[in-house]
Amino acid sequence: MSSPLLWYLNRATGAVLLVAFSLTVVLGILATGRRFSPLWPRFVTQGLHRALAGVTLALLAAHVASAVIDEYVDIRWWQAVVPFGATYRPLFLGLGAVALDLLVVVGVTSLLRRHIPHRVWRAVHLSSYLAWAVSVVHGLGIGTDSAKLWSLALTAVCVGAVIASAAARLVVVARRLRTAPAGLPAASKAVA
Ligand code: HEM
Repeated sequence: MSSPLLWYLNRATGAVLLVAFSLTVVLGILATGRRFSPLWPRFVTQGLHRALAGVTLALLAAHVASAVIDEYVDIRWWQAVVPFGATYRPLFLGLGAVALDLLVVVGVTSLLRRHIPHRVWRAVHLSSYLAWAVSVVHGLGIGTDSAKLWSLALTAVCVGAVIASAAARLVVVARRLRTAPAGLPAASKAVA
C-alpha cells in the first residue's frame, strides 16, 4: 500500500514522538530531584513520566507502522529493530532502530523493576539518554521536514530542554556530593 496519508502520518508522528520522548526524559530527570512542594508532590511527576513514556511507545508504534506499511520506499518490519542492512537511508534508519531497541529494553525492565536489582535497572534506564540522543540524530538525518525552520526550532527546544534539565540535575548532585558529611560512600551521598 502506498499513500501520501501514510507519509504525512509518519512525519507527523516523528515530530510529536520527539516532543513526547524529550518530555519523558525531562520529567524523569525532574522526578529524581528532592525539591517537591505539597502542591506538586513527587508522585505526580513520576506518574506523568510513566504516562508519557507509554504515550511515547504508542507513538513509536504508529511511526514505525506508517513507515513500513507505506510501500513508496522499501522499509521492512525487521529494519525497525535491526540497525543495519536497510536499503533506504541505512545509517539514519539504523539509528532509529537503535533508539527503538533501547526504548523497548528500558520499557520491559521498568515493567519488571521489582524483580531486577536496582543497580541493573538504573544502568539500563540510563541508556534512555543514549536512545534519545540517537533518535534526535535519526530525525535530523532522515526527516523530510528536518531542514525546515519549524522542525529545526522544535528540535532545538527539545534538545535545549533535555540538556538544561540534565545539567541542572548534575549541578544538584555535585553540590550534594560536596556538602555531604565526610566518610559516607559517594553512592549513598548522591541518592538519585
Ligand atoms: C524513539 C525513536 C524514534 C524517534 C524519536 C523518531 C523521530 C523521528 C523524527 C523527528 C523524524 C523527522 C520527521 C520529519 O521531519 O519529516 C523521523 C523520520 C522518520 N522516521 Fe523516525 N523516529 C524514531 C524511530 C524510528 C524507527 C524505529 C523507524 C523505522 C521504521 C523510523 C522511521 C522513520 C522514517 C522512515 C522517517 C522519514 C519520514 C520522512 O520521509 O520524512 N523512525 N523520525
